[in-house]
This record gives sequence, structure tokens and C-alpha cells, in this order.
Amino acid sequence: MKIINWFKKKKQSALTIPEHLAIIMDGNGRWAEKRGLPRSAGHRAGLERLRDLLETCLEYGVKYLTVYAFSTENWRRPPEEVDYLMGLFLEALQNEVPKLHQRQIRVRFIGLKENLKPELVTLMEEAEKLTAANRLLTLNIAINYGGRAEILAAIKGVLRQVKDGKLDPEQFQEEDFTKRLFTTGQPDPDLLIRPGGEWRISNFLIWQAAYTELYFSKHYWPDFSKEHLLAAFESFSRRERRYGQVKGGGKGR
Ligand code: IPE
Ligand code: IPE
Ligand code: MG
Repeated sequence: MKIINWFKKKKQSALTIPEHLAIIMDGNGRWAEKRGLPRSAGHRAGLERLRDLLETCLEYGVKYLTVYAFSTENWRRPPEEVDYLMGLFLEALQNEVPKLHQRQIRVRFIGLKENLKPELVTLMEEAEKLTAANRLLTLNIAINYGGRAEILAAIKGVLRQVKDGKLDPEQFQEEDFTKRLFTTGQPDPDLLIRPGGEWRISNFLIWQAAYTELYFSKHYWPDFSKEHLLAAFESFSRRERRYGQVKGGGKGR
């Protein structure tokens, strides 16, 4: 509770809240194993955690929340675990989307639709359509997402247009590339949090995170509480983002 009290004492204006927060929701399996439970129990607990922390994000005015739920590499896991996760996504969408819509949350999915069960893809598309006009917060859920696969898909689109003579490589700008990514039209993440004790990106938002502030925590995702999230915001507030410039900005040498 220490951090929460610290926040209560401090004026909210003293805090810098990330406009776009990204989270690698890691450590579900180890959380469960530590308790002698099946890994599936960890995934379910992880979903509960997301539900809770979404509230904190709304409370503090985060505008974009991007969560890593399933990577292109997670297909390498045992089929029972993959099946459980896919079933959990299906169940979560059925139960949660109407509530998210009621709360003015826009739901988007980033990742490849291929290899996903058609009934899941249908629910994903329906959720995106239903919530498209909501603006309180955008929740990007990364399912079958990989940064390299995303970049490769964008490159293929570019190559096709060049081949058809519709695009001049000399005129091609960074914006022409970023608009081909799943996150098109959204700001890059300001803060990326990875609970679970690993210090790596694991193929998440590798293009978009070029200047993202990173925050790693040893706590497993199901244990990552509001207090821990506020500690991450507090750390973010103390960072100086320089984007290659010198302290205080300026363009001179
Ligand atoms: C993250 O937790 C959830 C997914 C990758 C789907 P893990 O399942 O990776 O949990 P650990 O890292 O094995 O503890
Ligand atoms: C990253 O976690 C993917 C998700 C949280 C969905 P992993 O558990 O798959 O990452 P590695 O294998 O430890 O790098
Ligand atoms: Mg993991």
C-alpha cells in the first residue's frame, strides 16, 4: 500500500501517465506451478488481473492499452495449453465484450488471423465492429502476434505495390510503412511493462517500441497489482525521454 499512499499524498498533476501503455502479460504458468496448480489456472488468474488493471488504466486516464496475450511463437507449446488458451479467449470475448462496449472501450486485435479458429475470428471481428466508435480507451489485444511477422506482412504489401508500379521506392517514407502495421493510426507505446522476471521483448512491438520506456518486474502477471502498476507509472514519471537529443532538447551541435 506504500505506493498508493504516496500517490494519494502527491497531486495527480505531478504524475506523468503514459498515453499508450503496453504490457507483456508473462509469468502465468510459473505463478500456477508455484501453487501446485495446472498452468491453465495461471492463465485464468492472468485474465482476472487484466480485468482489474484495466480499471486502474481508466482511473488514471491511459488512452491506449496494448496487451500481449499470445505470440506467433506460443504455438510451439503443448497442444493442450494452446487449446486451453484459445478456449479462454473465446470465453473472455463472449463475456467481456458487452461490458467493455458499455464502458466506452474500443477493442482492437493485433496479430495474424491465420491459424485461429473461425469462431474466434468471428467474435474478434464482431467486437471490433461493435466498439469501433468508442473513445474512452483503446484496448489492443495481441493474439497470434509477432513483431517480425507484422513487419514482414507490411514489407510484402510494399513489394506488391512496387511490383504493380503503384509505388515509387524513392518517395517511400517512414509513415508509409507504419500505416501498414497493425497499430496503424495509434501513437507508439510510451511505456512497456514486462512482469514475470524476464528481461526481454519476446518479439512484441519491435518496430513501435523504438523509443518506448521499459519497465521490468519480478512479480508474475497474476500477482502484478494496482500498487505495482502505480510503481511503474511513478518510475515512468521520473524518466527523461531524449529521443537522441541532449538534455532539454535543442538542435545544435
Ligand atoms: C504468459 O504466461 C501467457 C502466455 C504466453 C500465453 P506464460 O504462460 O508464459 O507463463 P510462464 O512464463 O511460463 O510462467
Ligand atoms: C511472451 O511471453 C508472450 C506473451 C506473454 C503472450 P513468453 O513466455 O512466450 O516469452 P518467452 O518465451 O519467455 O520469451
Ligand atoms: Mg512466459
